[in-house]
Amino acid sequence: MNRFIDESAKIGMNVTLGNNVVIMAGVQIGNDCLIGHNVIIHPDTKIGNACRIDDGTIIGKKPLSSPRSIFKVPTDLKGTEIGDFCQIGSNVIIYCQCTIGNRNLIADLATIRENVTLGDLNIVGRNVTIENFVHIGNRNKLETNCYVTAYSEIGDYCFIAPCVATSNDNYMGRDKERFKHFKGVTMMTGSRIGVNATILPGKTIHSDGTVAGGAVVTKDVPAKTIVAGNPAKPFSEVPEPQLLENNLDKQ
Ligand SMILES: CC(C)(COP(=O)(O)OP(=O)(O)OC[C@H]1O[C@@H](n2cnc3c(N)ncnc32)[C@H](O)[C@@H]1OP(=O)(O)O)[C@@H](O)C(=O)NCCC(=O)NCCS
Repeated sequence: MNRFIDESAKIGMNVTLGNNVVIMAGVQIGNDCLIGHNVIIHPDTKIGNACRIDDGTIIGKKPLSSPRSIFKVPTDLKGTEIGDFCQIGSNVIIYCQCTIGNRNLIADLATIRENVTLGDLNIVGRNVTIENFVHIGNRNKLETNCYVTAYSEIGDYCFIAPCVATSNDNYMGRDKERFKHFKGVTMMTGSRIGVNATILPGKTIHSDGTVAGGAVVTKDVPAKTIVAGNPAKPFSEVPEPQLLENNLDKQ
């Protein structure tokens, strides 16, 4: 069996490790975890109890920085923490300085950048990208291929359909003025975004606010309202049976 486990790593009881696993200094892994083949766990990562981490996944990766980047990589990066009962698919990359709660499902190929917080019981779908400095609450569903831009805030019980694109820079990389205005999407409790919608920088989708498929959101979305089109305009009220308060038992 070819493996590297740093002597300072602490591994709990009943942990199964695959081939070619690399576990670096200061890593802590709880009890009853199942770690697949070719998994790499970077320094000071903490993993809770009863987690499953599938083949080829990397946890705690340090960010990169181009000579052209405004962002410089700090030297005192902290490890990522993952709670109990998480299922993490294959070829997932979770960067350092993230806090991931309990009972999350993070599907194959998802990428979670540094400084992200994720609460409990979320579903992060296949190939989802969550950029840096994003905060996500509990019981959200982020579906396949959606893109959550940096500096976004997602509450609880929100839904993001496949291929949704969010954005945070109206200056599109030009003009120093842009640094004052970076802001991603803010999704309040129970808000929803339909398939392939585009959310322009800094927009808020209020509670139970809903974006129709393919819409381009240029203004905040009012609570309990569906908006549609390009630019998105109020389309209808959210039907009563779809309101979060009438679906809490099914979430
Ligand atoms: C907005 C939405 C909920 C409306 O559904 P609906 O009330 O059943 O609407 P209808 O299909 O009866 O269409 C009513 C009218 O709105 C138009 N319309 C429907 N959806 C639209 C959309 N997304 N954008 C623009 N116009 C839309 C229809 O063309 C129709 O116009 P018409 O009266 O001129 O023919 C739905 O079309 C939608 O966008 N759903 C999102 C699906 C999704 O992303 N699911 C999650 C992932 S699987």
